[in-house]
Amino acid sequence: TKALFVVSECAPLVKTGGLADVAGALPGALAQHGVAVRVLLPGYRVVLGQIGKAKVVATYKDLFGGTAKLRACNIVGVDLLILDAPHLYDRDGAIYGDATGRDWPDNPERFAALCKVGAMIAAEGVDGWTPDIVHGHDWQAGLTPEYMRALGVDVPFVFTIHNIAFHGNADAGKLKALGLDPARFTTEGFEFWGQISALKAGLVGAAKINTVSQTYAEELLTPEFGIGMDGVLRMRQADLSGIVNGIDLDAWNPLTDPNITPYKTASGKDANKKALRKTFGLGKADGPLCVLVSRLTEQKGIDLLLEALPALLDRGGQLALLGSGDPKLEVALLEAAASHANVAVKIGYDEALSHKMMAGGDAILVPSRFEPCGLTQLYGLRYGTVPLVALTGGLADTVINASPAALARGVATGVQFFPINAQALANAFTRLGDLYADSKTWKAMQRNAMKQPVGWETSALAYKAIYADLTGATS
Ligand code: ADP
Ligand code: GLC
Repeated sequence: TKALFVVSECAPLVKTGGLADVAGALPGALAQHGVAVRVLLPGYRVVLGQIGKAKVVATYKDLFGGTAKLRACNIVGVDLLILDAPHLYDRDGAIYGDATGRDWPDNPERFAALCKVGAMIAAEGVDGWTPDIVHGHDWQAGLTPEYMRALGVDVPFVFTIHNIAFHGNADAGKLKALGLDPARFTTEGFEFWGQISALKAGLVGAAKINTVSQTYAEELLTPEFGIGMDGVLRMRQADLSGIVNGIDLDAWNPLTDPNITPYKTASGKDANKKALRKTFGLGKADGPLCVLVSRLTEQKGIDLLLEALPALLDRGGQLALLGSGDPKLEVALLEAAASHANVAVKIGYDEALSHKMMAGGDAILVPSRFEPCGLTQLYGLRYGTVPLVALTGGLADTVINASPAALARGVATGVQFFPINAQALANAFTRLGDLYADSKTWKAMQRNAMKQPVGWETSALAYKAIYADLTGATS
């Protein structure tokens, strides 16, 4: 089976969040089961700088106002098709917006172009290769089935929702500029409250839809989590499933991680904890050293953390946080760090430091309001860093709460809190402190955590089964 991924990020080339990790790791996991994936990715400046002189396999004379080339290359085992369209992607600033964080005004065209090229590859093939399946990720890939329909291609389209919060809306006035069929601008099509919704186009056009955990798949059917798309999703419920993300077990391996003092059992974390405290300028403390690595947005519950922080500090706990995003949250975090000796904050994006934090922390915090899957709690499990998470989405599916029943059975791997508010998080900090103080229980939780399967094995097979179902392939 041959699958074309249409996606806006791919690690290690370009990443703003977990989407990139999935696009970078899932192809390798699928390859082990006979599925050959090629990843269609925009040629952002940061990407072009890393691929060198990759061979041109197609040229498009007028792709939304300029000439574009498709370049094929293989970077750390991933087969890439880079859409080199300087008028759309070769610019200063970030991948979705300018340096001030404002979305690029031509984002509709930028990602429509990616979708259109995806559809053309499905129609005509490229480089002697034609996909059996087109697999789009998030709104940036949502228009692909519209362009496939226009070209009369009937290659099945699979759509994965990594985050429903982003709709990729465009003004209805752009219908013509985007080359979309006005007859499809209806409630049954991609019209959403008077606008063009790339996300909705993906949802109505996909043969199968999935999201990145079972619990989030169920949550999405409710107005609270579906954020306007719950109605469409309820209509498509028969074709909607949840497949939990895995992590790259080679990149995240405490035995071989070049960023840390390697270890096999949790006792090996001590040296890393010492080093981490030094890096963050933290002294000794009796309670757990909690770490958090995240984009700083409303989704991630950072405000709840700030409010509940006294409960952690009262238990002698510490916080080391790495993140960037919302300027207000950045300021509030830096203020917390300035006023508490046991709180340290680094604003920025730092891959190596994130590994050191996973190795040196006692607990990893993920207090998200919603979380389709979440990857840092999975890193935490693998590194024996006990996750303290909100009971939602993938956080509900991947962590076993230290309830009395789970403790009695000896299966707990972490702490979950619900409802998702500051009071419940504060209570969870108190529970965490109690568990940490009971070193026998704590060590058992660390062992359980490190034994959890967090790789791609099971989930890659689940994707393969969806492809097989749609193509009629048997192997
Ligand atoms: P999301 O995709 O919503 O941001 P995930 O937990 O799925 O959440 O993925 C986030 C990814 O980005 C993880 O690999 C995490 O380690 C990484 N990450 C987020 N912020 C930072 C940061 N400031 N420095 C380094 N890595 C980060
Ligand atoms: C999204 C979600 C996150 C998920 C990631 C990869 O950005 O917020 O929960 O892990 O996509 O699927």
